[in-house]
Amino acid sequence: MAHALDRHVALVGFMGAGKSTLGSQVAERLGRRFVDLDRQLEHSLQQSIPEVFERRGEAGFRVLEAEATLEALRNERPAVLALGGGAVEAEAIRRALREHALTVHVEVDAGTAWTRAGGAGRPLASDETSFRELFDRRQPLYRDVGDAVAHDVDGIVLAAAGIVVEAGLLSRLGEVVPQGELEVVADATVLGLHRPPLDAPVYALRDGEEAKSIRAVERLWRELRLERDGTIVAFGGGCTTDAAGFVAATYLRGVAWVAVPTTLVGQVDAAIGGKTAVNLPEGKNLVGAFHWPVRTAIDPELLETLPAVERRAGMAEVVKTGLLAGEAFWEREAAELVRACAAYKAAVCLRDPHERGERAVLNLGHTFAHALEAAGDYRRPSHGEAVALGLLAALRLSGLETTAVEEVLQPQRVRVNRDAAWAALARDKKARNGRSRLVLLEAPGKPVTGVELPEERVRAALDELIAE
Ligand SMILES: NC(=O)c1ccc[n+]([C@@H]2O[C@H](COP(=O)([O-])OP(=O)(O)OC[C@H]3O[C@@H](n4cnc5c(N)ncnc54)[C@H](O)[C@@H]3O)[C@@H](O)[C@H]2O)c1
Ligand SMILES: [Zn+2]
Repeated sequence: MAHALDRHVALVGFMGAGKSTLGSQVAERLGRRFVDLDRQLEHSLQQSIPEVFERRGEAGFRVLEAEATLEALRNERPAVLALGGGAVEAEAIRRALREHALTVHVEVDAGTAWTRAGGAGRPLASDETSFRELFDRRQPLYRDVGDAVAHDVDGIVLAAAGIVVEAGLLSRLGEVVPQGELEVVADATVLGLHRPPLDAPVYALRDGEEAKSIRAVERLWRELRLERDGTIVAFGGGCTTDAAGFVAATYLRGVAWVAVPTTLVGQVDAAIGGKTAVNLPEGKNLVGAFHWPVRTAIDPELLETLPAVERRAGMAEVVKTGLLAGEAFWEREAAELVRACAAYKAAVCLRDPHERGERAVLNLGHTFAHALEAAGDYRRPSHGEAVALGLLAALRLSGLETTAVEEVLQPQRVRVNRDAAWAALARDKKARNGRSRLVLLEAPGKPVTGVELPEERVRAALDELIAE
C-alpha cells in the first residue's frame, strides 16, 4: 500500500520495538484514535497478558488476539493500531493488514529488544535463547507484511503519507516507484543535471511557472501514451510537481503519480499534501485538484546543485515550518532538515487532506506575503522574500521574538505601493466572507488560526514591511 490517507496505520514489530509508545505519539500527530491491541485485550478480559497465557495457554491467547485484531482492522474509521508482536503469525491477520492498513514495521535489533523486554514478566521473554529464536522466526513475517520500515515518530508519519526521504534515493528510484508502465514529466533544466534511472519516456517541461500553464498541460494530455493503470513520475521543483500532478489528476480521469521533488521548496512543501494546480492569466493556482501521489521520493542530495536563490526560497518555508513545530529545524543539516519539515507538513495534511480546517496553519506569514507579491505584480518580491517578511509580521503581531527569521532569512523591506498592498490584503479577507484569516502563534509550536485583529494593527504590521 502506498499511503494511509483513508486506511489504518498498523504498527507491527517485535517485543520492545516501542510500538505502544510510538503508536500513541503518531496517533496524536495524525489526530486519530490509538488502539493498542495488547492493552485493549487486557482491559476487556480484566487480566494481564501473562495471566491470559497462564489460564488459556498461548493458543487460547492467539484466538482472542486474532478476534480483537481483525475487528480493529475491519473498523472503518482510520486509526493507528499497535499489533501484538506475534499477531503477524496468523495468515488471516496478514491478509486483513494488506486489505485495510498501511503497515509499518517498527524495527528493533534482537539485543535492544532483549534489553527492553527480556525478563520483564512477558510470557515469551523469560529466556534469552528462545527469545532470540522467536525473533529470528518472526523477522521475515514483519518484512513481508510491512509496507515500510521505521524507527521513530517522523519515520512512521512519513510512511503513512507515502514519503521516503533518503540521501542518494534517486539512484534507487526504480525500487520505490510502482511496477508497470511509467512516463516521466521533468523540468528541462533539472534533466541537464540529474537523470532519473528509469526505463521510461521523458517529457520535458520548461522551467518555472511556464510549466503551470494550460498550454503545457494540454500538450501533455495529448502526448502522453500511458494507460489507466500507468504512473506519471514528476521530476522537478514545485512548478513541475504541481503541473504533472494536475495532469495525473485529469488525464484519463486520473492516473497514479509519483513526486520526485528536486528543490528545497518542493521537498519541504510543494510535493507534500496532494495539492496540484495550474495558473490562469487571472491568477495563480486557480485550477487544480487534490490528488495525493502514491509515493513521494525525496533525495536531499539533489539539492547540491540548487542555485542559492532557490535555496533561500526554500529556507523561508523551512523557517515557517520550524516556527509552527516549535523547533529550530533551520539549524539542522540538509537531510535532517528536509525530513523534519516533510514529516511536519505530512502530518498536518493527513489530518486535513482536503483543507477544510487545520491545514490553514500552513499559511503562517502567507497573508502578508501574498499582499506584497500582488502589490509587486508577482515580479518582485519573490515568494520566498515575501514569506520572510510575512513571517516577520506574523511574529510581531504574535508578540514573539523575530531573531531567527532575521538571522536566517535576512528579510529586506520591499518597495511596493502601500495602498496596493493593503487593497490586496483586504481582497484576500473579503474573499473569505470578511473573516480575517490571520495565522499567528501563541508561542513557537502553538499556531492559532482565524485570528481577528483591529485593522489599524494589521495595516501597521504590513506598512512596516514596506520600504520608505
Ligand atoms: N502544491 C502545493 O502544496 C505547493 C506548495 C508550495 C508551493 N507550490 C508551488 O511551487 C511552485 C514553486 O516551486 P519551486 O520553488 O520549486 O520552483 P520551480 O519548480 O520553478 O524551481 C525553481 C528553479 O530551480 C530549478 N531547479 C529545480 N531543481 C533543481 C536542482 N536540483 N538543481 C538545480 N536547479 C534546480 C528549476 O529549473 C527552476 O528554474 C509555485 O508555483 C508554487 O505555487 C505548491
Ligand atoms: Zn509559501
